[in-house]
Amino acid sequence: MRGIILSGGSGSRLKPLTKITSKQLLPIYDRPMIYYPLNTLIKAGIKEILIIIAPERAGDYLNLLGGGKEFGVKFTYEIQDKPEGLAQAFIIAENFIGQESVAMILGDNIFEDDFSEEIKSFKSGAKIFAKKVSDPERFGVIKLDENLKPKFIIEKPKDKISDLAVTGLYVFDNRVVEIAKNIKPSDRGELEITDVNNWYLQKGELEVAMVNGEWLDAGTFESLLKAQNIAKEKLVGKMII
Ligand code: G1P
Repeated sequence: MRGIILSGGSGSRLKPLTKITSKQLLPIYDRPMIYYPLNTLIKAGIKEILIIIAPERAGDYLNLLGGGKEFGVKFTYEIQDKPEGLAQAFIIAENFIGQESVAMILGDNIFEDDFSEEIKSFKSGAKIFAKKVSDPERFGVIKLDENLKPKFIIEKPKDKISDLAVTGLYVFDNRVVEIAKNIKPSDRGELEITDVNNWYLQKGELEVAMVNGEWLDAGTFESLLKAQNIAKEKLVGKMII
């Protein structure tokens, strides 16, 4: 299993904090934000991790994380020139993924849960992780049928179809590279991870697991503040990096 941390973008919603550095390098209590998703992958036993970053911030990441020796893993870096969607990561990562499966986590997603078993037991298809939220319009949202099987996923739905958000951790088999190459950009000009998830869903190969502990997408001032407090109260004791 290969790991990807997608840590691109300009963090425009967090200006001026992100004027001189990347959102995912901002402090969350006593560590840079990216340490939390990195911790999730390293805890799951993933040793080869690709970090995808925006060109203007590449030096900051190299200075902070280096080659990975300090963490007992190997880091590879790739540039995402423009934030053209989460699914673009799989095209950028084609050589890195090779013939393996891949777990991708977003650089601004902070989880309390330990996903080691979920990731280690993965065989094929796709596995995503969902969490009930009060603001589903900010996320990809899953509608389940009466047997709790996923029916469809909509990216940032305007109407309330469900309160189950798709969190920013995804596990895919090797087909994801070709799937990503074949999807078309959405109205917001991005290759949507939701389209990748719906591809597996339609084939009956999308597994949805629930997130039990805290989950935050630290992309707004409110969630950034909340993340600081949750990190201090609940997360730092569980970190291995
Ligand atoms: C992205 C995905 C969305 C997912 C979210 C999780 O949203 O497109 O499906 O629920 O990450 O953090 P974005 O960060 O592009 O708003």
